[in-house]
Amino acid sequence: MVKHVAVILSGCGVYDGTEIHEASAVLVHLSRAGAKVKMFAPDGDQMHVVNHCEGKPTEEKRNILQESARIARGDVTDLAKLDVSAFDAAIIPGGFGVAKNLSDWALKNKSCTVQPHLEKIIKDFHKAGKPLGMCCISPVLAAKLLPGCELTVGQDKECEKWPFAQTAGALKDMGCKHVNKDVDEAHVDVKNKLVTTSAFMCNAPVHKVFDGIGVMVQETLKLA
Ligand SMILES: *[C@@H]1O[C@H](CO)[C@@H](O)[C@H](O)[C@H]1NC(C)=O
Ligand SMILES: *[C@@H]1O[C@H](CO)[C@@H](O)[C@H](O)[C@H]1NC(C)=O
Repeated sequence: MVKHVAVILSGCGVYDGTEIHEASAVLVHLSRAGAKVKMFAPDGDQMHVVNHCEGKPTEEKRNILQESARIARGDVTDLAKLDVSAFDAAIIPGGFGVAKNLSDWALKNKSCTVQPHLEKIIKDFHKAGKPLGMCCISPVLAAKLLPGCELTVGQDKECEKWPFAQTAGALKDMGCKHVNKDVDEAHVDVKNKLVTTSAFMCNAPVHKVFDGIGVMVQETLKLA
């Protein structure tokens, strides 16, 4: 049976939107598994537009839906129109868009809130027993909305390979169980049907990020 999967984007580019390689990896692995994909993103302005050469915000304004359309090759729908009953699973790639517009994690850390449409969507998928796949920084959304869930953002000890390991500690403080995993692995929280992998939280070669996302996608589809 064909699985219908909603992929939720937050712009186009690691520092102000969806991380492009992660989105692409999700789409390749879903395609290979024969899933039917529809992409969604909020229709509104980005918090920041970042010049990715300099890593600094610029003055220009960009619309999250229009930026996401670059990744979706034009075929992306307003997140407000996502009908949970039409899908078997949802997957949210990482990138700072998750921390700047799908939530305000980048500003508020542990006391963040989640974008209202997305909050309802995540809770509705969870209530319906439909799996959620997340990678990189997007597990913060689960930490916020599914209290006590198990997840991974990689490792909890900072080193050259794991420069953002303090995130694991912040997620533990939010009441979830952080499970240490390598970049080419995913953690499955069977009870909450939540599948997570570290992706670019790890300073790893892109093919390892791609492989970890492959495990995340396959485990998500198994639960659907
Ligand atoms: C993105 O974040 C900015 C800053 O918080 C906010 O002004 C804007 O409305 C947000 N856009 C969406 C679509 O949530
Ligand atoms: C979030 O808060 C934790 C303390 O709980 C801290 O260790 C971490 O550095 C903070 N993260 C960011 C990105 O500010």
